[in-house]
Amino acid sequence: TDIPSLKEVFTEFPLGVALSPESLYGERARLAAKHFNSVTPGNALKWDATEPREGAFQFTDADRIVQFAAENGMAVRGHTLVWHQQTPDWVFRDAAGDVMTPTPENKELLLSRLEAHIRGVAGRYGDDIGVWDVVNEVIDENQADGMRRSMWYQITGLDYIRTAFRVAHEVAPNARLFINDYNTNVPAKRDALFGLVSQLRSEGVPIHGVGHQMHVNVEWPSVAETEAMLQKFIPLGVEQQITELDVSIYTNSGESFPTPPADRLLAQAHKYREMFGLFTEYAEHITSVTVWGLDDDSTWLDGGSLGRDDAPMLFDDQLQAKSAYWAVVDPNWSG
Ligand code: G3I
Repeated sequence: TDIPSLKEVFTEFPLGVALSPESLYGERARLAAKHFNSVTPGNALKWDATEPREGAFQFTDADRIVQFAAENGMAVRGHTLVWHQQTPDWVFRDAAGDVMTPTPENKELLLSRLEAHIRGVAGRYGDDIGVWDVVNEVIDENQADGMRRSMWYQITGLDYIRTAFRVAHEVAPNARLFINDYNTNVPAKRDALFGLVSQLRSEGVPIHGVGHQMHVNVEWPSVAETEAMLQKFIPLGVEQQITELDVSIYTNSGESFPTPPADRLLAQAHKYREMFGLFTEYAEHITSVTVWGLDDDSTWLDGGSLGRDDAPMLFDDQLQAKSAYWAVVDPNWSG
């Protein structure tokens, strides 16, 4: 007999998974369609993938993922229209071809490129993409004003955020528009994000939701700190979504194991269980929960930049359900 479907167990909010075009075949595709009713393209809708050269849009990978979602009755989270990473260099080049400096002309040029990009990408998909991470990771709690000193901010101040949401809403009027960030449980970052969203919404900027990426680990953050994060944004009347959940088996240390130790996989299962328990408790305010990958071989934490395999997902690298899956799906689990 097959194992229970996650989306049939969690009926209080859509369950999402980040996918790449390579995972749209065979067993991965079967598992994705069986367990999830939302998909986020992990990379295919980022600026470097969709407009590598000015005006030269390419959507092959994104279209394949959007088509897969349509065929399987899955919602799509568009990720992401504006980010300081994975934005091609040409975007920040001035009329002479040099790296932009903060001038009125460069601000106008950059905002016009941003507008054209969003019209090209969000305009293409219209209602096929119901949620957009319009801006990603704009907060830096170490700055006095809480804003990351990205090129976007250096050249346009807050106007890139205002423009991004305005244009996205114009071309995708039914889409729910989100601001997305990581470590939003950290009080200083949480409060800086709250202040920004509160200010922009009071100006009438159409920010409908806050995305909490939740790239966490077996011992961090606590349920209490995560609950305080969710509580903080409720008075703003915004949706909240968990957008990139993964639970590394490592704590924030230099440790690295050749294979995931049993005790860490058990701790991971408990952390997933407590997080999903909290999300279910807050289902009135949480409108989707997305895990940032299907299995331990299709995750950004697989020996890449961090040089170690964090085994952060619900399914292992043989696509078998882990203790973390059973801890989330079985009310009687007591690993
Ligand atoms: O597509 C190229 C390929 O042509 C090339 O051969 C290969 C080797 O250089 O690189 C490929 O691009 C990689 C891309 O993923 C697609 O696989 C990039 O090097 C690699 O850096 C990129 O990593 C992505 C990362 O964002 C970039 O910062 C991860 O897959 C993706 O999971 C990760 O996701 C981010 C979210 O978007 C935002 N929140 C944080 C999260 C984790 O960083």
